[in-house]
Amino acid sequence: MLLSTAAARLSRASFTATARRGFTSTKVVAGIPTVHYDHFVSGWNENDEAYTQGKFHIQTFNKISPLGLARFPTSNYEIADDYPKNNAHAILLRSHKLQETEIDVSIRAIARCGAGTNNVPVARMTELGIPVFNTPGANANAVKELVLCGLFLGSRRLVDGINHMKKLGEQGLQKERVEKDKAMFGGREIAGKTLAIIGMGHIGAATAREASALGMETVGYDPGLSIESALKLPREIQIMDSISSAVSKADYISLNIPYIKGEGGTHGIIGKNVISDFKNDAVLLNFARGELVDSEAMKEFLDRGNGRYISDFPDDLLWNHKNAIILPHLGASTEEAEETAAAMAADTIQDYLERGTIRNSVNFPAAALPERQKGSIRITVVNKNVPGMLAAISEVFARHKINIIQQINTSRGAVAYNVIDIDPVVGDGATEINLKDLQKELTMHEGVLSSRLIFGKAGAGYARNIEGEYFV
Ligand SMILES: NC(=O)c1ccc[n+]([C@@H]2O[C@H](COP(=O)([O-])OP(=O)(O)OC[C@H]3O[C@@H](n4cnc5c(N)ncnc54)[C@H](O)[C@@H]3O)[C@@H](O)[C@H]2O)c1
Repeated sequence: MLLSTAAARLSRASFTATARRGFTSTKVVAGIPTVHYDHFVSGWNENDEAYTQGKFHIQTFNKISPLGLARFPTSNYEIADDYPKNNAHAILLRSHKLQETEIDVSIRAIARCGAGTNNVPVARMTELGIPVFNTPGANANAVKELVLCGLFLGSRRLVDGINHMKKLGEQGLQKERVEKDKAMFGGREIAGKTLAIIGMGHIGAATAREASALGMETVGYDPGLSIESALKLPREIQIMDSISSAVSKADYISLNIPYIKGEGGTHGIIGKNVISDFKNDAVLLNFARGELVDSEAMKEFLDRGNGRYISDFPDDLLWNHKNAIILPHLGASTEEAEETAAAMAADTIQDYLERGTIRNSVNFPAAALPERQKGSIRITVVNKNVPGMLAAISEVFARHKINIIQQINTSRGAVAYNVIDIDPVVGDGATEINLKDLQKELTMHEGVLSSRLIFGKAGAGYARNIEGEYFV
């Protein structure tokens, strides 16, 4: 809502007994001064009948696992898929292609239950100062289990054997032919073979660990290996310095890297050169993305040797190849993965709304300030990552004689994020400061995108600076 409209509403609101209320009053309860913050609520669509004051409104797109939704306590959360305009505080979605028009000025955060966020206009959200969250690793166990299944599909002619048995069954010949025909579907064991893992993140590290437990030798390549993932790797794994050196030793290769378009990206990373280093009978397991593999080069490899390609992605060239098995993108399709992702997204959103904490964001820096002291007020400010902003923000507090108890300032790309805990006792304790004025001053500073007051009633205390106009 525009400030002018907000001001009109404010004048009608119930708190109008005093035009300017400070957030410090002379009334002190158990050592903590009374803090007036509810003037924000009055500026928050109070005339809208659908608005439940004192609750965070989570708008869902797609059906979200009930287990995830149950993470939101009903005491201060309400969940719906059809909020009227400017009534929702955060969005939770799965695969819905989110349009900018669906993102109201009241939206503070967006969380995707899943790893990819290409159904969310992330770049635009960064410009607007809205963090977008995902759930990395939530489906890692599901994908890892299917990679293990791929190992077996690639070592025994299971799919061909199953199809053959169906054909024989239709002809009533199963019992008669089974022992004779089984020679066509012989295979090999995975124990003692070498598995190369390209990309040792959530899925790759878990796969390495399980493969090792199944008696395989493991080698891995990942120039960006995180400490968290490194700690999950089997002790025996050999770390290699290139994809080629990793695959040249391998009987099986598991691809577990992200697909990144453009120069320096990973499009077709498994191409002619890398494939020329494959053993003749190597099995490539692609449960990452179809575009990572050059289908032409793969076809040449499959045509000339006894190698196999097991993929979770459609492929116009290889779908019917006798040495390929193509699955319909089943990696994350388990009930448990959906539940884990929804629960993780719900926790991430709550942490952001209630504490200002940022983790698992694809466009904002990670940020976590320790719990705020009892009675203190937490203010978060999102601003453009340009010089002088931190000083300007601190200056607003200093001008109002407000003591900052703790704060963090962190940035990522074009956006910076501040979490600031302030002492509700101002200056000598006698000065009265209107928290709304303070927030307006902070928000309207050039370069600031939004601010939040994390204090008191859920849902209150959000302000945005949209091209020099003030929305709440
Ligand atoms: N089949 C499915 O349904 C399904 C489900 C989930 C994820 N995935 C795919 O699996 C991929 C991996 O998922 P994750 O959760 O393990 O991701 P992750 O981010 O935890 O791990 C990816 C790892 O790959 C490494 N990496 C990036 N580029 C590399 C390169 N060029 N060479 C070697 N290593 C490189 C990174 O350093 C990181 O450690 C995802 O990007 C996604 O495309 C598929």
